[in-house]
Amino acid sequence: MDQRPGAAIESVPDTEEFLGDVIAGLSATPRTLPCKYFYDQEGSRLFDAICDLDEYYLTRTEIAILEAESGDLARHVGESSVLIEYGSGSSRKTRLLLDHLESPAAYVPIDISREHLLDAVVRLRGRYPSLRILPVVADYTAQFALPRDLPDARRVAFFPGSTIGNFAPEEARAFLARIARTVRAGGGLLIGVDLKKDAETLEAAYDDASGVTAAFNRNVLVRMVHELDAELDPERFAHTATWNEAEGRVEMHLVSEGRQVVRVGGVDFRFEPGDRIWTESSYKYTLDGFARLAAGAGFRVEKVWTDPRQRFSLQYLVASPPLR
Ligand code: AVI
Repeated sequence: MDQRPGAAIESVPDTEEFLGDVIAGLSATPRTLPCKYFYDQEGSRLFDAICDLDEYYLTRTEIAILEAESGDLARHVGESSVLIEYGSGSSRKTRLLLDHLESPAAYVPIDISREHLLDAVVRLRGRYPSLRILPVVADYTAQFALPRDLPDARRVAFFPGSTIGNFAPEEARAFLARIARTVRAGGGLLIGVDLKKDAETLEAAYDDASGVTAAFNRNVLVRMVHELDAELDPERFAHTATWNEAEGRVEMHLVSEGRQVVRVGGVDFRFEPGDRIWTESSYKYTLDGFARLAAGAGFRVEKVWTDPRQRFSLQYLVASPPLR
């Protein structure tokens, strides 16, 4: 019997939506596939493996900041706050924060994967028996409702990992503005933001020597085969990662190794050698650039923590009252 607790279930993409997004993306110019479809069970496993790679400095740098600054971070989050985590996954980083929070009123982990979320909740309930945990299964990039029994306390959102970098700047602004409305004026957002640096370091982080990121990128094609009965060979697409200096982003693409036809949902998509599918952007910021983005979304930067090499930042933002 499933011993795991229940969770509020909000909207998560289904097969029909996946097919619609694939056909729309492959029909567009340039061809694209949304990066949210990387994350089925295998994709989440590959992403966890990426986080442990030598080249992928982001996770270990963010964890080092969380460990070194936990007391200060917890002071900014404040006493008796409700902590709302966007895309909680395995909640690995949450523990570093929860260990130092003073009497949190509740913890609300939000994740698209029910399995991942409920497994994490079981572990957290064992570690923090008196913490009120109110999980929500949802695609947090879409509209979703918070649990009805949420205590009426100051709200602080937690969005680590620099996942904000996977949104284009205008989408990032709109998403942050939604968080600002959710936490309400005076509420906070603790966010991980990856910083601009040399092209070599960035490209290695997204194209590791052991090929884990290549498998992660191709996983969206593997899912199309398994879930949409697509006719294609994922191995006939090569993984590339390039730093686009002008746009301030690392771009991941899948490049056709030869002339081929991909058939999905009864539609044929023809690829010539070298034709690309753009699968992900990972925007990098300067501290000033991110402060401008945050201000446009109704947040003021209260505190920034970085590592000694200024590779990565954790930032505490405060939601301003809405303009009249
Ligand atoms: C989840 N996100 C912040 C990762 C990133 O760095 O953009 C996803 C990823 N893509 C390739 N490697 C990791």
